[in-house]
Amino acid sequence: MPSASNPSSLKMMANLASETIAQLHTAATSAAEKAYAPYSGFRVGAALLFDDGSVSTGCNVENVSYSLTICAERTALVRAIAEHGGNRKIVAVAVTNLNGTACPPCGACLQMLSEFVTPDTAIYFPTTSGMMQKPFHELLPFAFKNWK
Ligand code: THU
Repeated sequence: MPSASNPSSLKMMANLASETIAQLHTAATSAAEKAYAPYSGFRVGAALLFDDGSVSTGCNVENVSYSLTICAERTALVRAIAEHGGNRKIVAVAVTNLNGTACPPCGACLQMLSEFVTPDTAIYFPTTSGMMQKPFHELLPFAFKNWK
């Protein structure tokens, strides 16, 4: 993981080291092992890399009501803010699952992430044709904002 003692190197995130990306994937996959998904059986993990070099992870947590289920990405985000506050930016997000299938972040997760990303935050996720990287602005070009 990039050194927290050199956070400025993370601000220009155009090219994260492949080792950093691999570590973020590993962190997301470890988080997926903790998923509570008795209803769907779909076990998702997410890892967020912040501009101070720290990483927060989360998994999906389902509920028998179904609709109260929270996705891995939002679990990671809420955990990060609760532990560190809301003054940092996310430079990269990795999403994985243990089911070997596609898993782009859902719209609700993208909207929540939108408060803490830059347009160029890199989002890594599995597709039917392998891992994909997209800048945030391509996944949610019209995030809802407070326009006042
Ligand atoms: N899920 C996530 O954790 N992240 C997403 O971006 C989409 C879906 C979870 C929610 C639910 O527990 C399971 O995947 C099946 O929809």
